[in-house]
Amino acid sequence: MAPLRQSQPILISDRFHEHLSSLTKAVEETLDGLLPPPKTRLNKALRESVLGGGKRLRAFLVWESACLFDVPPLVALETAAAVECVHAYSLVHDDLPCMDNADTRRGKPSCHKAFGESTAVLTGDALGPFAFQILANLKASADIRLTLIDSLARAMGPEGLVAGQMIDLGQETLPKSDADLCQLQRLKTGVLFGFSAEAGAILGNRPPQERQTLRDYGLALGHVFQMIDDLLDGASDPNTLGKPCGQDREKLTFLSLLGPDALYARATAVGQEAISLLETFPADTSLLKEAILYALQRAH
Ligand code: IPE
Ligand code: IPE
Ligand code: MG
Ligand code: MG
Ligand code: MG
Repeated sequence: MAPLRQSQPILISDRFHEHLSSLTKAVEETLDGLLPPPKTRLNKALRESVLGGGKRLRAFLVWESACLFDVPPLVALETAAAVECVHAYSLVHDDLPCMDNADTRRGKPSCHKAFGESTAVLTGDALGPFAFQILANLKASADIRLTLIDSLARAMGPEGLVAGQMIDLGQETLPKSDADLCQLQRLKTGVLFGFSAEAGAILGNRPPQERQTLRDYGLALGHVFQMIDDLLDGASDPNTLGKPCGQDREKLTFLSLLGPDALYARATAVGQEAISLLETFPADTSLLKEAILYALQRAH
């Protein structure tokens, strides 16, 4: 792939869009089969939170990384489904009045607006364990299942997403520098992208170096993705995004620190590094490389 230039228009191949849309369909069918039937209020809320749209980018990373190592499709799809449950939990809680207080998500009322706050808290609470239940029951060796469960728990827990949300919500020392913001983004967003990209190598029983390379790629993609999310928070509109804008107005973000042009230049540079990491794989990583372009292109 030619080096990314900030000014060049971003062209994403039809093949990328086709793969993302067929993965979206497959992972949503998988989730539909795994989630309990919508007979209770809780189960209706679970289904709406998980199945109600979304770009499925984390699922795509699981799937595409698994494709590098010939992982059986059902195992890859169920792992992708587990990651989407964790992601949906994080969004349901992120939107709560005590957190970002967002009334819309994916173009619809957020979970607490549709079902009430207590159901939204419990929906998030149910989705984490449900993800681990999926992983514990994969048709894979006990070693692989345990490694996935351990890695996902680390990505979600007090050394991962939850720690990032604490910082983001001003419950810890406030970020003051570029380095603080990098750490915040790594925790709240990067680690789940990192896990998603690494998952294929875990499923394929690959050596630590390959796992690390894919995790680093995922972390970098998460960084690009969250920088662009911050940019869109200040520059897009709620109809386009399907969620409120201006949520970060009071916070230090890469948008307030760098301004839009330098933010985009940084995101392009980080994206280029992520693409370079993938050069070490002999298998075809072109769709994973295009996922970087997809994240950048959201800013256009
Ligand atoms: C939203 O993630 C949360 C962030 C990390 C910015 P996505 O933008 O991937 O959410 P969906 O799944 O596509 O709705
Ligand atoms: C979300 O960051 C990170 C999560 C762990 C959910 P944001 O709060 O910026 O995500 P959006 O903008 O609400 O999707
Ligand atoms: Mg938030
Ligand atoms: Mg939010
Ligand atoms: Mg945001």
